Amino acid sequence: MAADLHTDEAMDVSLMGEERFAGDYAIVVDGLTNRFGDQTVHENLSLKVRRGEILGVVGGSGTGKSVLMRSIIGLQHPAEGHIEVLGHSMTDVDPDAQIGVRSRWGVLFQGGALFSTLTVGENVEVPLRQFYPEIRDELRHEIARYKVRLSGLPEEATSKYPSELSGGMRKRAGLARALALDPELMFLDEPTAGLDPIAAAAFDRTTRVLADTLGLTVFLITHDLDTLYEICDRVAVLADGQVIAVGSIPELLATDHPWIQEYFNGPRGRAAKASHERAKTMDTAGKSGN
Ligand SMILES: Nc1ncnc2c1ncn2[C@@H]1O[C@H](COP(=O)(O)OP(=O)(O)OP(=O)(O)O)[C@@H](O)[C@H]1O
Ligand SMILES: [Mg+2]
Repeated sequence: MAADLHTDEAMDVSLMGEERFAGDYAIVVDGLTNRFGDQTVHENLSLKVRRGEILGVVGGSGTGKSVLMRSIIGLQHPAEGHIEVLGHSMTDVDPDAQIGVRSRWGVLFQGGALFSTLTVGENVEVPLRQFYPEIRDELRHEIARYKVRLSGLPEEATSKYPSELSGGMRKRAGLARALALDPELMFLDEPTAGLDPIAAAAFDRTTRVLADTLGLTVFLITHDLDTLYEICDRVAVLADGQVIAVGSIPELLATDHPWIQEYFNGPRGRAAKASHERAKTMDTAGKSGN
């Protein structure tokens, strides 16, 4: 019975929005300035995120990574600057006009931000209820169960409360909710923070597979050097209120900025690089052995 729901009606739901964005840059931030009182967090910051890439965003604690993400999704009104997401201005128009584009991204907030009084399934249903109130209950439950499985959780997790899950499972529940609306764009704020290395690596693989199979653009804030090496196409570095560099890790290493050198060439950076190179060598050896 439930299997029937995977059919045309479910397809129609994913196609209800606009056509997928086909431009070069999923996100364009131009001249962004953010201030809190007399603290300037960003000053004339610019950044372009290519459609289809996983962009890692790094920077010291408090450099404004989360504030940048909140500005891009319209939760933080900047003092100056222009932001475009999937071809829509987030800064020039009134918030009601942004409703269409808001349904085309998913967000995993730092810390998860799940509703503790709702089950995992009900959490996933929140954006569905908000943006597609016309979907009937049975189909909405079915979509939620599907997203829970897509995030790598067992289906039984759908009926559990966040307090009944491990930290890693809660992150995946947040991912399931971020996937609720079949997004084109995902924002992940420190998705692997607090996970053990095996759970973190598994979460990274899920992110990469989802990005590749669903054609997602991913804005991924992280402190996790392994994540940067394993799944990011490019990395943007925040310091001094700006994006001071953006590129592949080898490109970043070619710059002589002290923070970048310290970050990637410090003990942890070198360990992550060595582990990445070992994995690549084993992968190549495995393939040539076949
Ligand atoms: N709503 C707010 N009101 C006042 N100050 C804020 C607000 N949000 C953020 N800030 C300040 O802006 C700065 C940047 O915060 P942000 O959360 O973006 O840092 P971050 O780079 O994400 O750090 P972390 O790596 O620790 O998550 C911090 O100094 C923070 O205290
Ligand atoms: Mg943060």
